[in-house]
Amino acid sequence: MSSELNLILLGPPGAGKGTQAERLTFDFNLPYIATGNILRGAVRDETALGKEAKSYMAKGELVPDSVITGVILEALNSADARDGFLLDGFPRTLPQADALALGLQDADRRLTAVILIDVPDEEVQRRLSGRRVSVKTGRVYHVEFDPPKHEGRCDIDGSRLVQRDDDKPETIAKRLAVYHAETEPLTEYYDARGLLRRFDGTRAPTEVHDHIRATIATLRLEDEL
Ligand code: AP5
Repeated sequence: MSSELNLILLGPPGAGKGTQAERLTFDFNLPYIATGNILRGAVRDETALGKEAKSYMAKGELVPDSVITGVILEALNSADARDGFLLDGFPRTLPQADALALGLQDADRRLTAVILIDVPDEEVQRRLSGRRVSVKTGRVYHVEFDPPKHEGRCDIDGSRLVQRDDDKPETIAKRLAVYHAETEPLTEYYDARGLLRRFDGTRAPTEVHDHIRATIATLRLEDEL
């Protein structure tokens, strides 16, 4: 069995999945496959996928399983993801998890771990209402917890920072409700398979990162033994 790292990031909206992914992909040199970014790109480019996904996303609902599953299985089979991946935003429902398990089995691969970043709903509201994203680099900030050096501008290239359409209070509430109903059952699903690793996402980003990185490094060592 190869020692490739095949990882899933799980957690409520605003848990800090994207924030941690930026650091972890750097640490472990993994391709980052984020359904939210793929779908937002498709909406921006007005592709068939984007046209289908747009109304669901704007309302804070999930796009249908049939729309997203094929896109992700294809990404996992691409040359980029052959030696491992960090998957963020998929699976989000039990049927998506089953489809992923089958897809990996067909390719004779297996998951290394599912990283759950947990934060309570009140914290999600605070984080998402203050989130700002660079229109060019995609770098994520928070007006209070992780502000840019110059207000409204990305530290990397000075590009404009904007608020995501689905970060309005009423849409955040809907996304949280969808998370609890559709996605939270996956914690039990992966726990039963011995894959779940839980992290307290209320700590500072650096601390959350240190904990996750240490766990992944240990898992990789165990795999190589
Ligand atoms: P997606 O883009 O995946 O959204 P999400 O899961 O709701 O997650 P977010 O991107 O909002 O949050 P995050 O956890 O990455 O937090 P971040 O690091 O930015 O999905 C969007 C939509 O696409 C869905 O609603 C759905 O419609 C559709 N979709 C996607 N996948 C799908 C699927 N599989 N099936 C069907 N539909 C699908 O951090 C948030 C903020 O907090 C930032 O401002 C950050 O600076 C700050 N922050 C981060 N960490 C900390 C910390 N430790 N302390 C303080 N502040 C922090």
